[in-house]
Amino acid sequence: MCGIVGYIGEQQAQNILLDGLSKLEYRGYDSAGLAIYNGETIGLTKAMGRIRNLEDKLQVRSLPGTIGIGHTRWATHGKPSDANSHPHMDNSDRFAVVHNGIIENYLELKEKLIAKGYIFRSETDTEVIVNLLADLWNGDLLATVQAAVKHLEGAYALAITSEYEPDKLIAVRYASPLIIGIGQGENFIASDIPAILKYTRDIYILEDGEMAVLTPDHVHLMRLDGTKIERDVMTVDWDITTAEKGGYDHFMMKEIYEQPKAIRDTLGSRIKEETVDLTNEIGLNKEEINEIERIHFVACGTAYHAGLVGKYVIEDLARIPVECDVASEYRYRNPIITAKTLVIVVSQSGETADTLAALREAKRQGARVLAITNVVGSSVAREADDVMITWAGPEIAVASTKAYTSQLIAIYLLGAYFAQEKELKTAAEITTIISELKQLPEKVEEVLQQEETVKAFATSIAKHNNLFFLGRGLDNAVGLEGSLKLKELSYIHSEAYAAGELKHGTLALIEEGIPVIALATQPAIYDKMVSNVEEVKARGAHVLGLTTVGNNELEKTVDEVIYIPAVSDLLSPVITVIPLQLLAYYACLARGYDVDKPRNLAKSVTVE
Ligand code: F6R
Repeated sequence: MCGIVGYIGEQQAQNILLDGLSKLEYRGYDSAGLAIYNGETIGLTKAMGRIRNLEDKLQVRSLPGTIGIGHTRWATHGKPSDANSHPHMDNSDRFAVVHNGIIENYLELKEKLIAKGYIFRSETDTEVIVNLLADLWNGDLLATVQAAVKHLEGAYALAITSEYEPDKLIAVRYASPLIIGIGQGENFIASDIPAILKYTRDIYILEDGEMAVLTPDHVHLMRLDGTKIERDVMTVDWDITTAEKGGYDHFMMKEIYEQPKAIRDTLGSRIKEETVDLTNEIGLNKEEINEIERIHFVACGTAYHAGLVGKYVIEDLARIPVECDVASEYRYRNPIITAKTLVIVVSQSGETADTLAALREAKRQGARVLAITNVVGSSVAREADDVMITWAGPEIAVASTKAYTSQLIAIYLLGAYFAQEKELKTAAEITTIISELKQLPEKVEEVLQQEETVKAFATSIAKHNNLFFLGRGLDNAVGLEGSLKLKELSYIHSEAYAAGELKHGTLALIEEGIPVIALATQPAIYDKMVSNVEEVKARGAHVLGLTTVGNNELEKTVDEVIYIPAVSDLLSPVITVIPLQLLAYYACLARGYDVDKPRNLAKSVTVE
């Protein structure tokens, strides 16, 4: 959420910063801007909208210089506009700042600064930071920044440059992620790794309450109070092409097609011939697993939907009661947490503010916290007691796809591991689960071959403004994910309903021609599901059925049907979700919207 880049070195900064921003555009795309020191003053160019608008402006008048900062914005305080775009500069244009996060006490600070005669040119909270720097300027940039951040409450990742000391950049992290890239005679600041991967693989991850002073040849890490920090350099081993589109029209489609690989990689060395082996990853031994009295899945959005599947999976395999909570609710609802509660936070980015806050609250109350995350070294990964990485590789499209299926795989592994350690399943049963898990990548490849059928249906629903997903049990959990994907990409309003619940009110919304997507993959409740489909058909719904190969009776009831390969009931969400991802993708294209950057959204929501 909001992308930050900074460059200091010998090359012209403009194109490096623009390139970095283009890799971060998924974090926010309401506006973008650059501030570059040209040897005398700081040049500033900002533009509302996508980065290409900024590029157009820079084509007309470029910003020379080798030291600069850039930003791509996801609006929080102040609507998207040129004035509200970052970087922001103080009244005398001596300081430039880019910011990710929210300054919660900005109104109070703003009033004080206005009383001192400062004029505000934007509606943002960020502008208080830059005027505060001007107000506190004491002849030393580092000391001034340290003095200024003492006044700030909230969350902030900052990159700061100043005409007073143009030979350095300052980076500050407090509750918003920031990394430092280490080059040869050049150094970088970024809110996420893809921004700088082209230039260096060596990074420092700043922790909350830390800052860095960058010159072309050195990076000095310290706490906000100036205490020096020694840190090992982390080397990123991502293949650079995994952060590029690789021939696909959109990141989302590329990531949909990467799912078989993501599943294989997430299973990886965690399955041996006949056992699931998580001993090196999670510190829970047999005795501790047996002592777990309850599990809470806590996450947001798509990751929360993975947790909903997790409830079925863990309860079924490990017979431990599971609750599943949206992170922004969990921390405020006074949940019952004991030392025997295992809290599992699920987060692709590992930086989602609500999830991180829930993790901290759970730890504070004595729970053991296990993180399932896609980003090694993310805040969630660092703060949890145990971590399972989903090896999906960087997910760039705002709509999550391969992260979700990889999260499901991590959850299956965990469920099987607990069942094995609790001796609830025989060796033969565990072997069966393992062999089914291993077959999933192939089954996903098979279902991807239904792309054209899904595309045709997506085109037919594109003219509708309302739609329903129906399913029971695990199909309902997947329906919720399908509905979220469709909403965020095509802006078609949809609801996912537990099919049996529809007749208790919502059936009133079913009218002639309304599209309904009926998920019917669960044998135990298949007949009941068919009856629910009859109920909506009788009221004029146009129904697309999604069922497993061999369930031919559904054809007689629905208008159209997509067959997906049969897998065991518990594993079916991994397969069922694929056509729903494709449906959202093609409905979005049919309506002419931007697949990778849906309106009002951003990847990695680092504000509450
Ligand atoms: C939807 C989507 C979001 C995220 C949510 C949590 O397609 O991607 O709902 O799942 O913002 O993000 P993470 O997993 O990074 O915590």
